[in-house]
Amino acid sequence: MKTNYSVILQIFRSNPVMAWHFGRGFLKLHRAKLIDYFRPSGKSSQLPLITFKITPLCNLRCVMCGQRGKTGTLKGKDALEENSTIISVERYKELTREVKGKAQIFYMWGGEPFLYPNFIELARFMSNEIPFFSVNTNGTFLKENAEAIVRDKWKGILISLDGFEDVNDKIRGKGSYRRVIEGIDAINAEKKKRNSDLPYMAVVTTISNQNYLYLADLVKALKGKGLCTHAINLGTYISEKIGQEHSAYVKEKLDTDWPHWKGFANGYNEGIDGEKFKKILQEAHAFNNDHPVLTIPVINPDKIGLYYSELDTPVRDYCKAPWFSVNINYNGDVHFCADYPDYVIGNIKDNSLMEIMNSEKARKFRKVLRESPRGLLPACKRCYQIMIFGHRCM
Ligand SMILES: C[S@@+](CC[C@H](N)C(=O)[O-])C[C@H]1O[C@@H](n2cnc3c(N)ncnc32)[C@H](O)[C@@H]1O
Repeated sequence: MKTNYSVILQIFRSNPVMAWHFGRGFLKLHRAKLIDYFRPSGKSSQLPLITFKITPLCNLRCVMCGQRGKTGTLKGKDALEENSTIISVERYKELTREVKGKAQIFYMWGGEPFLYPNFIELARFMSNEIPFFSVNTNGTFLKENAEAIVRDKWKGILISLDGFEDVNDKIRGKGSYRRVIEGIDAINAEKKKRNSDLPYMAVVTTISNQNYLYLADLVKALKGKGLCTHAINLGTYISEKIGQEHSAYVKEKLDTDWPHWKGFANGYNEGIDGEKFKKILQEAHAFNNDHPVLTIPVINPDKIGLYYSELDTPVRDYCKAPWFSVNINYNGDVHFCADYPDYVIGNIKDNSLMEIMNSEKARKFRKVLRESPRGLLPACKRCYQIMIFGHRCM
């Protein structure tokens, strides 16, 4: 299987502008890793990456999703009540001005970002101000928005697609496959019409026991679809035992209740056959594609079975994400762990983001994380942030 580094070279060759923006972000990120991480004060001066869980609303119910899946923590909550707490476009614009020059990448997700009211207006503003504006979407609203997306020069869209029609729709909802494919085609048509390279389009496939057997065929079928990359996300899964251990640990160290791990204790990792999946991944990576295929995390193929069967085995360690990134929740709460809105370090309705980034709670969290075994809290072992930014140990 290819390493991250060989894929980075491929990305550089195929998309120099995108690579340039990422390269700048990575330099800032490495500064935070090499310098700020070791500051005794727990302060950090870098914020190249801001992620926005911009809305709690979603039109799909993906089975393995930590929010609205089988054990999702937003499941059963009154969506409209949650939605009444969202942040205004004006506050987001103000925040964008605040971090301009510091932030390199904005990454919008949700819920489904297109369900945020006036999303196109906000995206247009942010895209003009921030070097790399990107959106993770379920792809079902792309067709009707293709013209605006290309016109406004979004830099990246990451489109979730988990299989061909039968598999994808079983996981994500009826009709979603067809709408995603129509959306991708509409974006490609609009890019051609405007003679534009933007947005760079990636497909993200999240692996579960529902789709892993069909991955290689999906990878092959996406050749010629105008993608800049196909990211294979091995998925976040947690066991009840790890979750309980985590809850006890953060209660003791941070005096915080942390129930959101429950969304990822859904069992969709169970039964994945490591030997079979190893061969499938190798086939997917060996295929002569027209875009890089990136497995996140890069992993020794012989260990793929362990990834799903022994959820306690670390794959990456020493999380440094809180030294260079924050996630803003739909209600304005700021936290470091994007999938776990449990430990809140501030709210953008009350303070500026840089104040929050170095609030007392933020510094305490960094200190606890740094002093924890292998620089991780118990539930971090399969978190996607550690998979992307952590130090490889498997
Ligand atoms: C929560 S969704 C929000 C954005 C948008 N609604 C979408 O579906 O792309 C963000 C990403 O998380 C992925 N995802 C869902 N369940 C996951 C899990 N258990 N582990 C890791 N990623 C997961 C989705 O497939 C999607 O690519």
